[in-house]
Amino acid sequence: MRVVSGIQPTGDLHLGNLLGAILRWVRMQEEAECLFFLADLHAITVYNDPTKLRANIREMAAALLASGVDPAKSTLFAHSQVPEHAELQWILGCTARIGWLNRMTQFKAKSGKNKETASVGLYTYPVLQAADVMLYNATHVPVGDDQKQHIELARDIAMKFNNDYGVELFTAPEPFIGGGAAARVMSLRDGNEKMSKSAESDMTRINLTDDDDTIAQKVRKAKTDPEPLPETAKGLEARPEAKNLVGILAAIEDRSVDAVLAEHAGKGFGDFKPVLADALVGLLSPLRARLEEFRRDPAELDRILDAGAARARELAIPTVAAAKKAVGLSR
Ligand code: TYM
Repeated sequence: MRVVSGIQPTGDLHLGNLLGAILRWVRMQEEAECLFFLADLHAITVYNDPTKLRANIREMAAALLASGVDPAKSTLFAHSQVPEHAELQWILGCTARIGWLNRMTQFKAKSGKNKETASVGLYTYPVLQAADVMLYNATHVPVGDDQKQHIELARDIAMKFNNDYGVELFTAPEPFIGGGAAARVMSLRDGNEKMSKSAESDMTRINLTDDDDTIAQKVRKAKTDPEPLPETAKGLEARPEAKNLVGILAAIEDRSVDAVLAEHAGKGFGDFKPVLADALVGLLSPLRARLEEFRRDPAELDRILDAGAARARELAIPTVAAAKKAVGLSR
């Protein structure tokens, strides 16, 4: 079992990232060999101010460490520092089919109406993402539901490559999605939109950097409905905002939605929201305190990322050599 996953170093780490990916990475460190990276090459598929990107790379590294990613157990690096990612991407881009990329819903969503003006990188980045995991022969890729299609593309590329060149080189990676709300944390303002760093209003998301009062205020102002909470998860089906808030509490407490409802059924949101706010503060405030500590030592962050990149390269170099050999690019 080898676990590999990444996150773009843009914006603040939010609750969707934490429940959908990072806190699950932290748990997996105890069970498997793990590589986690900052997908900084992905971050430049849309224009990012270079000074801000540089700062965000350190900030996201600090946020991951504060959340419990432990460099003594896992390899943590920025994928731009391991040139084999870009090199393998080229080779895999010759295996991936245009029709496969045309199906990627995230490109459709991110490029909006004006596809002609989107960067070529935004279009091909699922191939880089495939290289990210195939370089290390990942078996499990813990991600939120929004990344499932990209990992399935990586599976298709791995299988076609092995088949075309008659090798058993690449492992077909599995998307490893959390249950319940952890798969997809929704916006606090619209239960049909996922929580994301790109949403304009900060009130739609809870950030790792939000202080306790801000968290309480965001929960207080979260959109809800006037009905009391039902007895079971089935009663939440046509109530996306209610389902999201109950799901978040279930994910934080690591229990089922039915178990949460067994405790809170019959309550209105006036009673439920303070419970949720307390749980969020309980989860986030210790992480925020640790974030402050990591921020204070940028040299240590750089040291951790450099050591991680060196370790990742040791694994990546032989994979690229084998891929080049398979396609006939080496003697
Ligand atoms: P990114 O940076 O958008 O998100 C990082 C992780 O957070 C998860 N996530 C969510 N999970 C649940 N609910 C949400 N609202 C939510 N929002 C985000 C994402 O699913 C992801 O797991 N392309 C990737 C980064 C990447 C990558 C990879 C991931 C690059 N290479 C290889 C896995 C393997 C991205 O943009 O994630």
